[in-house]
Amino acid sequence: MPPARVAHPGLKSPEYYVPGLAADDVARRYGISPADIAKLGSAENPHGASPKARAAIGDALERLHLYPSWTAEPLREKIAEVYGYEPSQVVCGAGETEIISLVIRAFCPPGGRIQMPGPCFPIYHLFAETEGRVPVLVFEATDRPSMALDVDAYLAAVDDDTRIVFVTNPHSPSGTWLSESDVRRIIEAAPRALVVLDEAYVHYSATPGYIHLAREYDNAVVLRTFSKAYGLAGLRVGFGVASRPIIDALLAVKPTWNMGGLQIAGGIAALDDDDHVARTVATIAESRHHVARRFGELDRFRMVPHSRSNFFLVEIVDPDTDSNAVFNGLLERGVIVKDGAVSWRGLEDRFLRCDVNLPEKMDHLVDALRDLD
Ligand SMILES: Cc1ncc(COP(=O)(O)O)c(C=O)c1O
Repeated sequence: MPPARVAHPGLKSPEYYVPGLAADDVARRYGISPADIAKLGSAENPHGASPKARAAIGDALERLHLYPSWTAEPLREKIAEVYGYEPSQVVCGAGETEIISLVIRAFCPPGGRIQMPGPCFPIYHLFAETEGRVPVLVFEATDRPSMALDVDAYLAAVDDDTRIVFVTNPHSPSGTWLSESDVRRIIEAAPRALVVLDEAYVHYSATPGYIHLAREYDNAVVLRTFSKAYGLAGLRVGFGVASRPIIDALLAVKPTWNMGGLQIAGGIAALDDDDHVARTVATIAESRHHVARRFGELDRFRMVPHSRSNFFLVEIVDPDTDSNAVFNGLLERGVIVKDGAVSWRGLEDRFLRCDVNLPEKMDHLVDALRDLD
C-alpha cells in the first residue's frame, strides 16, 4: 500500500479525543441494566434536554427541506439580543468544539504557539497539533498542585510569538474559578494574541460569567455551549462573541452551512428556557454539596475542593493503586468516570474526573469507591 498522502506531519499519526464511555456499552459489557449505570464521565445534564428546545425542534421538522441561513442568522440575532451584542459580533458552531477549531485555523499560522493551561480540555491541543500548530501547556509552578490556574506562571509564559491563549472558566478538569481581575490580567498581558475565554460550564458557577469582556477587549473571544445547562449535547450548538473583525475571520473559515435548521431552532428556544437552566443549576449545587459530605467517609480517595462546575477531581490518596485500576473497578460496579491518565495530558495516574449528577448517582459513586477500599 502506498503511504497515505497527508498535508503535514501532525496528521501522520493523529491522536483522537477520548470521550466518556457510553452507558449502553458498559451495561452490555458487565451485564448491568442501563438504568443501574451512573454515567459520570461526560458532564451531561441529569434533567435531559430543555423542553422548550425539544418542542421547537419538533416544529422545525416541517422545514427540513429548506437550506438554513449559512450564518444561523436567527440564532445569532437571539444570542445578540440576550447578551447585548450586535448579530455581526456572534458566530455559531456545531458545539464550542467546532468554534475552537475555527479559532485555531483563523488566528494561528502553522508552526505558531498556542498557550493553554496544563491540564486542560484536550480538544485545544488535539486540534492545534492536527493543524500543525504548537500547543504550549503551562503547569502550576509548585510541587503540590492545587489544580487551580497559576495566573502568575500563566502570564509569564506569554511571549511575542504566542498567537492564542486559552482560558477555561470554570476550568476543566478541576472546576476551579478565576476572578474577573485575573481574567482581565491575562487578556491585557497578551495584546498581540487572541485570548479565548471558554465558558462552557459558566451556568454552574452561580455568576453571570464574563461574557461582557468581549465588548471591552478587541483581543478576546468568549465561547459558550448549549451542551451543558441546556441539556443539548446531542444537538451540537455553541457560539462565540467577539469584535466584528474576529467574527468576520471565523465566518470565512467556517464550513458554509455548519448549522442545521434543528440546531438553530433548538438554540433559540433554549435561550428562553430559564426554568430548565434554573432547575439544572439547583440540582447540581445541591448534589455537589451532598457528594462533598459523603466523601468524608472515604480514606483512600479525596475530593479536590473548590469546583464551581458540574464535575470535580478525585485524588487517589492510596499509593498502592492508580487511576486505571480505580476506573476499571468503578466500571465493574456500574460507574463511568474519566481516568485522568487517559483523558488529560499532564494529569497522570493519581486523578479521576467525576460528574456531579443526581444525588442517588453520587451515592452510587461513593458506595462503589468504598467497596473498592
Ligand atoms: C471546557 C470545555 N469546553 C468546551 C467543550 C465543548 O462543548 P461542545 O462542543 O459540546 O459545545 C467542553 C465539552 O466537554 C469542555 O469541557
